[in-house]
Amino acid sequence: MRDVAVLGVGMGKWGELWEKSHRKVWTEAALAAIEDAGVERVDALYVGCMSGGLFVGQEHLGALLADELGMGPIPGTRVESACASGGLAFRQAVLAVASGAHDVVLASGVEKMTDVDGNAATYALSTAADQEYECFHGITFPGLYAMMARVHMHQYGTTRRELAEVAVKNHAHGALNPRAQFPMTVTAEQVEGAAMVADPLRLLDCSPITDGAAAAIVVPLDKVKELGKGTPVRVAASAHATDSIALHDRKDLAWLASTHRAAELAYEAAGIGPGDLSFCEVHDCFTISEIMVIEALGIAERGKGGAAAGSGMTALGGRTPVNPSGGLKSKGHAVGATGVAQVVEITEQLRGASGPRQVDGAHWALAQNMGGTGASSVVHVFERI
Ligand code: COA
Repeated sequence: MRDVAVLGVGMGKWGELWEKSHRKVWTEAALAAIEDAGVERVDALYVGCMSGGLFVGQEHLGALLADELGMGPIPGTRVESACASGGLAFRQAVLAVASGAHDVVLASGVEKMTDVDGNAATYALSTAADQEYECFHGITFPGLYAMMARVHMHQYGTTRRELAEVAVKNHAHGALNPRAQFPMTVTAEQVEGAAMVADPLRLLDCSPITDGAAAAIVVPLDKVKELGKGTPVRVAASAHATDSIALHDRKDLAWLASTHRAAELAYEAAGIGPGDLSFCEVHDCFTISEIMVIEALGIAERGKGGAAAGSGMTALGGRTPVNPSGGLKSKGHAVGATGVAQVVEITEQLRGASGPRQVDGAHWALAQNMGGTGASSVVHVFERI
């Protein structure tokens, strides 16, 4: 297999983009990545999208977007893995380049979620859970993560305040990110006083409904100078693992087994451990998710992730900053694009180009993107070169 690099990235501001169509949101990100990489051609494209059909009535995205770029007949492939669609699309691009099948691959993700009302968006998101055993009974994603939060609180003594501290930290980071959907700072008291969504999760514990896209150009590491003009970042590892979709099939509701497995594989391939990471971008779709993810990644001990944000350990300037972009909580969660947006943030950070939210001396970084309540997890490790 060949070594792989990200040579260019592109992403606009996320939020309610009512003035732009689904394809236009994607095309702007794709063209920005191509320009940033300075490549003259794209050999293939992958696009992560969770539910073009339910959100905007558009499927068949591989061909549509290749044509929109004016690059047909290149192969275009849509990748679906719920909220991990973007991370998995990026992984397909990495594998395509590593295998030698293609040299210049566009990895991308897009979701336009605000064209439907809240009920329809909640239904579309629920298709990532088990329809027969979970959704049939009326459960939603905030409800599923609320149950996981309750179990974590019961088993480990995680507190309501510790959930709030994750939101406080990520909004503080997002306030430094011009692309963020909700770039305001919040206090723990505001989080704890926000409208209840699914006990114990309140409005400010939740990622929002978001329109957005992100893109990255992936090339062989030994051809970066020949193929383009961008500043490369090495992809040191790519891993993917799965778990039961339905919560009732899991041995432990307070443990993300798929993230743990993907992280084990990724650390081994990269030859590093969690203590080597300069920072990471993780899937904080709810405040409890970030707490559980950092435990599964080994950044915090099992059961002790709750204390991380409040102690400053995962804040900018702390031992291992988590979500310097603001994460899904503040930057937004355009579900099919989130995994690629993490790659955009990491590439810019490892280039030293993140302005006021720059992680000093960043060298190793990790991206963790998951689908459903963690039924699929994709982990990538990146290195500054
Ligand atoms: N964080 C901060 N502010 C938010 C927000 C969020 N997640 N979601 C909405 N807001 C703000 C809106 O801007 C609006 O502010 P305004 O009154 O000043 O205009 C207000 O809160 C109400 O917004 P609204 O769109 O009516 O909220 P809602 O009640 O319809 O939806 C949630 C809120 C939390 C239910 C919805 O965002 C949601 O379902 N999030 C989870 C998404 C999800 O499950 N993703 C997949 C994860 S696996």
